[in-house]
Amino acid sequence: MAAITIDENVLSTCKDKVVIITGGANGIGAATASRFYHGGAHVFFSDIATQSGRDLEKSLQADTNSGNGTCCFMTVDVCDYRALLNLFETAYKVFGQIDVAIYSAGVTERPGWVIGADVDVESVKQYPKPLMDLIDINLNGCLYFTRIALAYLKDGASPSPSPTKSLTLISSAQAFQEGPGLCGYAASKTGILGLMRSLRLLAPKICNTRVNMICPWATDTAMIAAHVHLFKDNGIPLNSADEVAGYVQMVALDGACNGRAVYVGGGKGWDVEVGFKDSLEVWLGRENAEGWRLQDEVFGKVSCACCPFSGFPCVEMMNADI
Ligand SMILES: NC(=O)c1ccc[n+]([C@@H]2O[C@H](COP(=O)([O-])OP(=O)(O)OC[C@H]3O[C@@H](n4cnc5c(N)ncnc54)[C@H](O)[C@@H]3O)[C@@H](O)[C@H]2O)c1
Repeated sequence: MAAITIDENVLSTCKDKVVIITGGANGIGAATASRFYHGGAHVFFSDIATQSGRDLEKSLQADTNSGNGTCCFMTVDVCDYRALLNLFETAYKVFGQIDVAIYSAGVTERPGWVIGADVDVESVKQYPKPLMDLIDINLNGCLYFTRIALAYLKDGASPSPSPTKSLTLISSAQAFQEGPGLCGYAASKTGILGLMRSLRLLAPKICNTRVNMICPWATDTAMIAAHVHLFKDNGIPLNSADEVAGYVQMVALDGACNGRAVYVGGGKGWDVEVGFKDSLEVWLGRENAEGWRLQDEVFGKVSCACCPFSGFPCVEMMNADI
């Protein structure tokens, strides 16, 4: 496992960056918005929770210790493609560029929609709206956001082996750990892992943008408020929202970070993808691992040092002058 170290020098580079955040009114998103704002960035943060967003906007603006940062809250439902587009366009019209995009909006699941004693031939006739809403917010919204973000981040970005522009997606430890009964939640968060992996080769080359994700372990926010006492009472590690936000900020700003899935547990961060790659032979067998290595060699022209796998890259797209 590769521990990620937070480097204050890297964090200080957030000054003057134009930052877009979803789910920014509460929890991890709010802590991330506050960090960027205090570091002197221009933060456009959004949420469906209008009152919390406005309150945060007011309290940040009243705080004179902003490092000349600015902030603007906008009510945006991540399921609404046009509203997301308007969020980016608003910031772009003011500053002429977008540097950092962070997707933190998310909801947890009330188990029992996919498996449970109550799911039977009668109840299954009811359309599972809460389940589908969860997928819309946690995954479909993230895909909308990613599409729009890459287009705006790409604009005006200079080609570089370590791009300054970045997209960071907040997933969960549920992307690689089992969560019994959290079927829709785990599916949506694992979907974000697939999205990040499918982009990490192409985004630096086509959009001059790095793509990373954060996989928080239990974090003390409203999302798990009902269970926080169980963590505290039993000495189980628990992140604060600000600790997770520190790693969000780090991967968003560190030019060396691309294609990482940073697990944050007990306030510390590790890149899970390094362990995944290093143990390939152990869990896939030598023969299959060799097959992957050969594929990497053959498709080598499209892979880059920071990306563990080439997958099945689109050679024509990579060679095209996009
Ligand atoms: N808290 C944890 O233990 C934990 C663990 C792993 C991953 N996460 C992930 O971290 C992210 C942030 O969660 P949090 O812990 O800060 O929870 P939170 O509930 O404090 O914040 C989530 C925010 O997303 C917003 N949101 C929900 N639906 C939305 C929509 N349709 N459009 C726009 N905004 C919407 C909410 O209003 C809220 O402000 C989520 O993606 C969550 O899945 C949290």
